[in-house]
Amino acid sequence: MKTLYTKIVDLQSQQEEIEQAGQILREGGLVAIPTETVYGLGANALDGQAVRRIFEAKGRPQDNPLIVHIAQFEQLATLVTNIPESARLLAEHFWPGPLTIILPKADCIPSETSGGLDTVAIRFPSHPVARAIIRAAGVPVAAPSANLSGKPSPTTARHVLDDMDGKIEMIVDGGECSVGVESTVITLVGDHPVLLRPGGVTMEQIRTFLPDAQIDPAVEHKLEEGRRAASPGMKYKHYAPLAKVVMVEGNREEYVEYVNSQADKDVWALCFAEDEDKLKVPALCYGAQMDGAAQAKHLFDALRRFDELGAKTVFAHCPDRSGVGLAVYNRLIRAAGFTVVHL
Ligand code: TXA
Ligand code: MG
Repeated sequence: MKTLYTKIVDLQSQQEEIEQAGQILREGGLVAIPTETVYGLGANALDGQAVRRIFEAKGRPQDNPLIVHIAQFEQLATLVTNIPESARLLAEHFWPGPLTIILPKADCIPSETSGGLDTVAIRFPSHPVARAIIRAAGVPVAAPSANLSGKPSPTTARHVLDDMDGKIEMIVDGGECSVGVESTVITLVGDHPVLLRPGGVTMEQIRTFLPDAQIDPAVEHKLEEGRRAASPGMKYKHYAPLAKVVMVEGNREEYVEYVNSQADKDVWALCFAEDEDKLKVPALCYGAQMDGAAQAKHLFDALRRFDELGAKTVFAHCPDRSGVGLAVYNRLIRAAGFTVVHL
């Protein structure tokens, strides 16, 4: 494959760069775009050939479907076969924003985009630059997170450049992502709504509108051997730095004592702000204990920084699972390959 020169543009709404990004997308190219969750690697969702390039650039398994991004609610009707009342309710309250809704797909969605499924995931992001680029493209934009498959999702343009330099036409720098973990994914295809991936829109918020919404067991637990994943993304190793991550479940005293007992073994801590000054090992802090939003915002950057620091073992203090904390827990337990120490 020919090596591309990846142009990185910092705009904060310079119309010229947005038009250029839109044109690249329309013509079948790849553009990394900032969203409120994480950076996305965009291509024209209706062009199977363009979408195939996303899978190549990421090294992503082809059966893992992409999220299709829209810039106005009306686009939804052209991409799905019908819009149930539950979808209208969620869209009305949470769009634009970090929520992805799965519905039966319309024929215009190529199988490359849907990973061969007869459903499609749709998201209407709130980030103004993302919306401007989708509007400029004039087509719906398929975009997975703009990381190499298996690596932590990118929350800055620098993270994207680290993974995608020379593989894509353009990176649009819109600054640091405000949410920091990927969107909430909910399927409305079955008998009742099912949460497939927790994110910035919380389960508590969803249940105020859809009280019968359930959580897929794979959100918090390792997928059982032989069980089919409701969402193909659940079965792959994810968000993992090179270091071995171990999730440690316990109160502050227990966590600090456990980590300090390993201080002679070249270990690092991923801790809460309140833990930091009691630890005798080097640490990155990902937020205060009860601040799920801060933890979400800093988690992926911290995981990438452990690689830069050459960390070999990281003991992560297990987050609280309420609110956005469920999303933090879901990403961290995957980064840890489900290795948990209960104290
Ligand atoms: O916040 C986000 O959602 C970011 C930004 C760029 O919008 N995108 C993102 O895409 O996280 P990706 O591809 O990294 O994650 C999409 C997840 C995967 O786990 C995939 O398996 C699942 O959504 N998914 C997509 N379409 C699906 C479908 N039709 N049925 C079930 N799961 C689906
Ligand atoms: Mg991803």
